[in-house]
Amino acid sequence: MAPQPTLAVVGATGAVGTVLCDLLSARRNVWGEIRLLASARSVGRKVRCRGEELTVGALTPEAFDGVDVAVFDVPDEVAARWAPIAVDRGAVVVDNSAAFRMDPAVPLVVPEINPDQVDHRPKGIIANANCTTLTMIVAIAPLHREYGLRELVLASYQAVSGAGQAGVDALHRQLGKIAGDRVLGSRPGDVRQAVGDDLGPFPAPLALNVVPWAGSLADHGWSSEEMKVRNESRKILGLPDLKVSATCVRVPVVTGHSVAVHAVFATEVDAEGAREALRNAPGVILVDDPAAGEFPMPIDAVGTDPSWVGRIRRAVDDPRALDLFVTGDNLRKGAALNTAQIAELVVRPRTRS
Ligand SMILES: NC(=O)c1ccc[n+]([C@@H]2O[C@H](COP(=O)([O-])OP(=O)(O)OC[C@H]3O[C@@H](n4cnc5c(N)ncnc54)[C@H](OP(=O)(O)O)[C@@H]3O)[C@@H](O)[C@H]2O)c1
Repeated sequence: MAPQPTLAVVGATGAVGTVLCDLLSARRNVWGEIRLLASARSVGRKVRCRGEELTVGALTPEAFDGVDVAVFDVPDEVAARWAPIAVDRGAVVVDNSAAFRMDPAVPLVVPEINPDQVDHRPKGIIANANCTTLTMIVAIAPLHREYGLRELVLASYQAVSGAGQAGVDALHRQLGKIAGDRVLGSRPGDVRQAVGDDLGPFPAPLALNVVPWAGSLADHGWSSEEMKVRNESRKILGLPDLKVSATCVRVPVVTGHSVAVHAVFATEVDAEGAREALRNAPGVILVDDPAAGEFPMPIDAVGTDPSWVGRIRRAVDDPRALDLFVTGDNLRKGAALNTAQIAELVVRPRTRS
């Protein structure tokens, strides 16, 4: 019998990497050796993975020798430099960064939508989509199959962990500074003053606030995050002309991205038909009973695998449009879970039982 494949997790100490290590213990055990890698800062650290304490090693070319799949959970520039090295050493790379997502020779895979793309990887690299796109797209794809998608208009409500561990730490520090003050938030600038310049990776305080900005400045006043949602949705769905308008907003939630979506289709839609399509869709859970106070929210979706979908209604002014709200764990389906699913697909021919 062939030995079980070897997995490397690059960036195992980060927000996404630690969730990947954690969720491997709950998935079918297809991996033999698991190698954890990170920066020189973390070498020798212990990280719990698949129920064991594993020691973090250094990111070196030799670290990829004998590795079948290397999942990269590192910043874009680190992935851009090291993914080709891992491929040269014989690994298939599954990359969570934005470094290769729009490369036409790199498939952008969501296993519930385009699993066959895993086998078309001329560069040996498979990309994982951005967390906001992933949260939304598993709910949009079944509706596209049913009605034919023409346009998306959306606003996101993104958690601070989308900006990595540094984002989580910044929100907690800010909350610590304002704790117990019953007046803050009622005068211009008072929250800014309380938080000071301790903004972490964000352009403004997140505590008691919402910030209509994520990423860097792209063309025409768009943010890079908004452009990612547009371009990646088009690529995953195979709809290069899909109209997409996005406004990405950061909110004081630790983990769990939400997206309010107005989706326009080729044919007339009805809310019950849409619910039925979503009820039967993989990776989606329907939570849609506003009268009973049941709607998708980060406090319920955090730590779970599916995208939670609710508030489904036909647009009042357009029989071809639906409005809905989607929430998902940005560190799981939005990142670690999707890469775990892709990695398992890559080695499936060897591990199918
Ligand atoms: N957070 C999300 O919701 C999310 C969703 C989808 C995709 N992503 C993408 O996933 C990647 C990781 O995000 P994250 O949120 O987990 O970030 P993070 O919490 O900042 O973690 C970054 C990881 O990269 C490692 N790293 C940084 N520089 C390195 C270097 N020069 N050499 C080797 N390792 C290095 C860090 O190791 P040390 O601990 O040793 O510094 C750490 O393990 C990013 O590309 C991000 O855009 C994130």
